[in-house]
Amino acid sequence: MAIRLGDEVPNFSADTTEGRIDFHQWKAGKWAVLFSHPRDFTPVCTTELGAVAKLKPEFEKRNTRVIGLSVDPLDAHERWVQDIKDVTGAQVNFPMIGDPDKKVADMYDMIHPNASDTATVRSVFIIGPDNKLKLTLTYPASTGRNFFEILRAIDSLQLTAKHQVATPADWQPGEDVIIVPAVSDEDAKKRFPGYVTKKPYLRTTPHPQG
Ligand code: BEZ
Repeated sequence: MAIRLGDEVPNFSADTTEGRIDFHQWKAGKWAVLFSHPRDFTPVCTTELGAVAKLKPEFEKRNTRVIGLSVDPLDAHERWVQDIKDVTGAQVNFPMIGDPDKKVADMYDMIHPNASDTATVRSVFIIGPDNKLKLTLTYPASTGRNFFEILRAIDSLQLTAKHQVATPADWQPGEDVIIVPAVSDEDAKKRFPGYVTKKPYLRTTPHPQG
């Protein structure tokens, strides 16, 4: 069954390029991005894995661990790492799950049979410190993901978990945010002094500090 926003994500044990892990223990109260890619030694995947490796410091700044998965075995992941380095210049610096028996892929509904019976789609699961699913994305094999968008989404998720705000279309950190409708005008005056009312249901305020 599909995992939906707000659900606790299932735990699993798996072999990865960095050893065997228990997923919930591995993320240990941090945010996590679990993402699947269709196959090893394929062109789009090669560029994606290099892109994620280069962005690892950005994920770390956000207290977020990253882990990849495909249904290829670990020895293939290990051989492929050199190609990723040759092509992108980046050394893979996060674990990749080898899932040849599709245990994790099935658990997380990463195989969409009308797309492919055998390969995982490009799923992204952003999971909170409470192990609950905060955001999910599904891309087809032919469309590589924008990992800056994933960082931007984490910024929004972390901000909106802390303050009673929402982020508008195309928001970037530092830009104004929206006060959620559940906050009354009276409360908004105390919490967000000087906020702007564009419509009675659309009130904006500078990006909260802290
Ligand atoms: C790729 O990663 O390049 C890819 C994988 C499967 C189908 C098409 C492209």
